Amino acid sequence: MKIITTIVITLAVGVLAVGGFAYSGLYDVSASSPDSGIVAWLLSKTSHASIERHAKWVDVPDLADETLALAGISDFDSMCTGCHGAPGRDPEAMGLGLNPPAPDLAESAKEMTAAELFWVTKNGIKMTGMPAWGKTHGDDELWPVIAFLAKLPELDSDAYEAMLVGAAAMGHHADDAPAAAHSHDGQDSEDAGDHAGPADHDQPANHEESGAQPEQHEHGTHEH
Ligand code: HEC
Repeated sequence: MKIITTIVITLAVGVLAVGGFAYSGLYDVSASSPDSGIVAWLLSKTSHASIERHAKWVDVPDLADETLALAGISDFDSMCTGCHGAPGRDPEAMGLGLNPPAPDLAESAKEMTAAELFWVTKNGIKMTGMPAWGKTHGDDELWPVIAFLAKLPELDSDAYEAMLVGAAAMGHHADDAPAAAHSHDGQDSEDAGDHAGPADHDQPANHEESGAQPEQHEHGTHEH
């Protein structure tokens, strides 16, 4: 009985201490200061383990087709580079202020599997700036971006810009890789489970917004 009383009291003190700390305002939530060692470690471990576990259920389609990567670069350029940067380009002001920072995806592409990259891109990461692109984009729109990520580590800035121009010339910007910054209303993603492949990536999609044209994105010209 004594043991039970001790356990109950210890638990109550623990709950009060955690609650008191939450209400005290002592923890610094500002993005301009790093998380303390133990919090940073806990968040990073939790995040890596979660990504690894959830990615096991992702069905990876055949990503070897070169046209798939070409179809993905325009979306990568308009949806990802503002935070993650690209070869020869720093992230934009928004990306530079993030905490945790958005990593260089050329490095991530070397360390993570296609399934992991896809899962994060589709679902985002809570309490970070990483958005869930699956809210507004179907799997068939996201897989080309993942196919492109596999090429990213090989590209220097010249090769990147050349590939971007090549993709626009092939017409991938509007048809095969309907992209970001556009007025998707979310209905695309409703029927998109983890199992949809990129099979229809070369069919004209009904997103004809011109916003995906790379020449309209003036990356690298912001000198704040
Ligand atoms: C608004 C900013 C923002 C945009 C836009 C963005 N990301 Fe991220 N992304 C982040 C942040 C911040 C992280 C780091 C999260 C963390 O540390 O847990 C991240 C992490 C990731 C990771 C995990 C990388 C690793 O090494 O752990 C992947 C993969 C990723 N993003 C893919 C993408 C792709 C693909 C796009 C474009 C379709 C994109 N992101 C657009 C902010 C962004």
